[in-house]
Amino acid sequence: MGVNLSGRHFLKLLDFTPAEITYLIDLAENFKGLKRTGTPHAHLAGKNIVLLFEKTSTRTRCSFEVAGRDLGMGVVYLDPASSQMGKKESIEDTARVLGRMFDGIEYRGYGQNIVEELAENAGVPVWNGLTTEFHPTQMIADMLTLREKFGSLKGLKLTFMGDAQNNVANSLMVACAKLGVNFCACGPKEQMPEPHLVATCREIAAENDCGILLTEDVAEGVAGANAVYTDIWVSMGEPDEIWAERIRLLEPYRVTADVMAQAADGAIFMHCLPSYHDTKTTVGADIAERFGIEELECTDEVFESKRSVVFDEAENRMHAIKAIIYATLK
Ligand code: CP
Ligand code: NVA
Repeated sequence: MGVNLSGRHFLKLLDFTPAEITYLIDLAENFKGLKRTGTPHAHLAGKNIVLLFEKTSTRTRCSFEVAGRDLGMGVVYLDPASSQMGKKESIEDTARVLGRMFDGIEYRGYGQNIVEELAENAGVPVWNGLTTEFHPTQMIADMLTLREKFGSLKGLKLTFMGDAQNNVANSLMVACAKLGVNFCACGPKEQMPEPHLVATCREIAAENDCGILLTEDVAEGVAGANAVYTDIWVSMGEPDEIWAERIRLLEPYRVTADVMAQAADGAIFMHCLPSYHDTKTTVGADIAERFGIEELECTDEVFESKRSVVFDEAENRMHAIKAIIYATLK
């Protein structure tokens, strides 16, 4: 039977089968072709979506806005300060109001429970644009990027270095397990993914002929890796005071040229972005002043190297989000 995601929410990849995830990656690749050739695809003209952001964003917001417009839809953006949600109106009531006006709702913010509650009450598809626990739209883009570079996914090894318990690391572990990619979380024991999620992913991985490795040893972690992935060491919503502790724990896991040299031949470097690979940001400059380090989760050399596919991932966010919107609203 063909895959049909019409009317579904997109909250976390655990809710989807490998065939459904692959369908979204294929659809994203197809939309990328249409965009590149300038072929119009306003298939959802007449529909409207709303984007609820409780945290800042460049890629996710722009991807939803451009994707929505390319599909012919009206797009409304609500920033962290300009809706009643949470402060004067419950999540449940907000969902019921927005569901009467819009055909789909994107949410970026805090707990996964919030996006789940929106979905329970909206009556229209809800898409997770990043929560504390998961970042699933990023995964469709990243798996498309990985497939573009290697031709297929099954049997590859992806190693995530650093804060292996954040939303991106959690989501990569699920995505890899579902798609037959061997996943390694390489970081200190204090920042490993939650045991319950690891156990769930190991069961899924076993069904898809791949494995999950957690290690504190960099050489073991990156040996044979086709992709080395990292993310910032302090995520949105975490307190500023945590930087000193994170730097202490995560410095040994910075992705350097030496780390890349220990990975498989032809390995690529991946990052969801934004990245602190230099001091050209206020946070990067502040950390340099306070701690005397100018590169955090990866070196500028790796970020700018030929192995780096970070801007392909960023572009693919838009094609992936278009696929997710189209598949759930068509
Ligand atoms: N990768 C990502 O989600 O980027 P933004 O925070 O800019 O949306
Ligand atoms: N882990 C990061 C991802 C940003 C796209 C954060 O949540 O801030």
